[in-house]
Amino acid sequence: MYIKICLFLLPFICVAVRYKPNWNSLNSRPLPAWYDEGKLGIFIHWGVFAVPSVGFNSESEWFWNYWKNLKVPSYIEFMENHYRPDFMYADFAKDFTTEFYDANQWAEILNSSGAAYIVFTSKHAEGYTNWPSSTAFNWNSMAVGPKRDIVGELGEAIRTKTNLHFGLYHCLYEWLNPLYNQDKANNWTTSQFSRTKTTPALYEIVKRYKPHIVWSDGDAEAPASYWNSTTFIAWLYNDSPVKDEVVTNDRWGTDCKCKNGGVWTCGDRYQPGKLQPHKWVNAMTIDRQSWGYRRNADSSQYLSIEELLATFAETVSFGGNMLMNIGPTKEGTIVPIFEERLRQMGQWLNVNGEGIRGTKPWSKQNDTLTSGIWYTKKVDAVYAIVLTWPTDILSLAAPIPSSSTTVSLLGYTEKFQWTRRPSSGIDIQIPPIPFNKMPCKWTWIFKLSNLENI
Ligand SMILES: *[C@@H]1O[C@H](CO)[C@@H](O)[C@H](O)[C@H]1NC(C)=O
Ligand SMILES: *[C@@H]1O[C@H](CO)[C@@H](O)[C@H](O)[C@H]1NC(C)=O
Ligand SMILES: *[C@@H]1O[C@H](CO)[C@@H](O)[C@H](O)[C@H]1NC(C)=O
Ligand SMILES: *[C@@H]1O[C@H](CO)[C@@H](O)[C@H](O)[C@H]1NC(C)=O
Repeated sequence: MYIKICLFLLPFICVAVRYKPNWNSLNSRPLPAWYDEGKLGIFIHWGVFAVPSVGFNSESEWFWNYWKNLKVPSYIEFMENHYRPDFMYADFAKDFTTEFYDANQWAEILNSSGAAYIVFTSKHAEGYTNWPSSTAFNWNSMAVGPKRDIVGELGEAIRTKTNLHFGLYHCLYEWLNPLYNQDKANNWTTSQFSRTKTTPALYEIVKRYKPHIVWSDGDAEAPASYWNSTTFIAWLYNDSPVKDEVVTNDRWGTDCKCKNGGVWTCGDRYQPGKLQPHKWVNAMTIDRQSWGYRRNADSSQYLSIEELLATFAETVSFGGNMLMNIGPTKEGTIVPIFEERLRQMGQWLNVNGEGIRGTKPWSKQNDTLTSGIWYTKKVDAVYAIVLTWPTDILSLAAPIPSSSTTVSLLGYTEKFQWTRRPSSGIDIQIPPIPFNKMPCKWTWIFKLSNLENI
């Protein structure tokens, strides 16, 4: 039926596009709509680094690299003080016990955040794979540590228990892999490591777990030609089992960031400060310093819900998605402070999702008269995201009211009175609202309908 209509009405549109293994062609692929609409994703960093689980003013998942490659004194001292002299990084793996890892429970907690997708580390730069990979014989989650297919369990739970999209993070390079270091010493004129390790692993996770996001990383040293990235992405877009829904990022080689691939990440915790011409993502952490869990973090190290919502509002106003990271413990728990932040985001989105999900950036991103106001829009309304509760009057310069403009607060029934400002803009009268009638406790969204300048 579809084919008939297709041939009859729109023959030229219905010819399946095939992407070529070059950036021009790959960059022309439209972004699958679910990604921009969802706005929020949850990033999860888990691996053997969850065993030492410390970072000294730095991220815990880089433990091995800081200790053995970069020889950072605080890491060397930590090992000298607490471990026997011949202890190797690989010795940590047997203590990656995961006895409390319950993928169904994770799925419930992750879904409670109101996010649209998750991105889970299949392999970080330590090389350990969270699935029984044919490319990591005795350095994978089935062989040593959990003795489980961690990726498979989470993928299954996310797919069967939630509507979240399941995405995988995969790190191209491995700091201490001799094959990688040999190719590096050869100035990337050989590709022993990428050919025998990285590329097969990428095809393997896509065929096996059908991720809707392939979030590449570890691109800091070698060019995309060394990784053969365009060949893989062309397969991903043309022939893979997720060719229609899959989303990628821009970390496919030294020549890609903020330029080639799918969604732009540019850097970690990226905040461009202005509207972007291309879909981008702010990949950030709830623990200010680390992606992996840190046992030595105190509560001041965690972003508050107010800080998270301020970052989220700014990100969405500038056209980005936020990818908010948590790090589970080696036992497989999501500690209560991470769980609380996830549930708070969900509580907030339950009230305010209308002004976030499915929105587009407006012509103005923030207000010039009152600070801490971020804008989004839909076809029939502008949404003003307000970080601090306004007393008496909320004065905004950007919205130009018409005679039929209405103003409401998401989650609250009564409409608000407003007047036109003498020069330009709108004054919204804020009535006293009883504490128990407030729709939420942090960060409110005003909906402005029928403006002159929607
Ligand atoms: C997932 O979260 C949404 C929104 O918070 C909620 O409506 C839904 O019931 C949740 N689903 C499950 C299976 O927990
Ligand atoms: C790699 O490049 C460096 C710097 O250009 C050079 O010194 C070195 O000899 C090169 N090594 C090989 C194996 O080509
Ligand atoms: C890249 O992949 C293609 C297709 O599999 C293959 O023919 C080519 O040899 C690969 N190149 C490198 C440098 O690995
Ligand atoms: C609007 O946002 C920009 C970029 O983040 C910032 O520099 C500026 O101070 C903001 N303006 C106000 C009034 O908050």
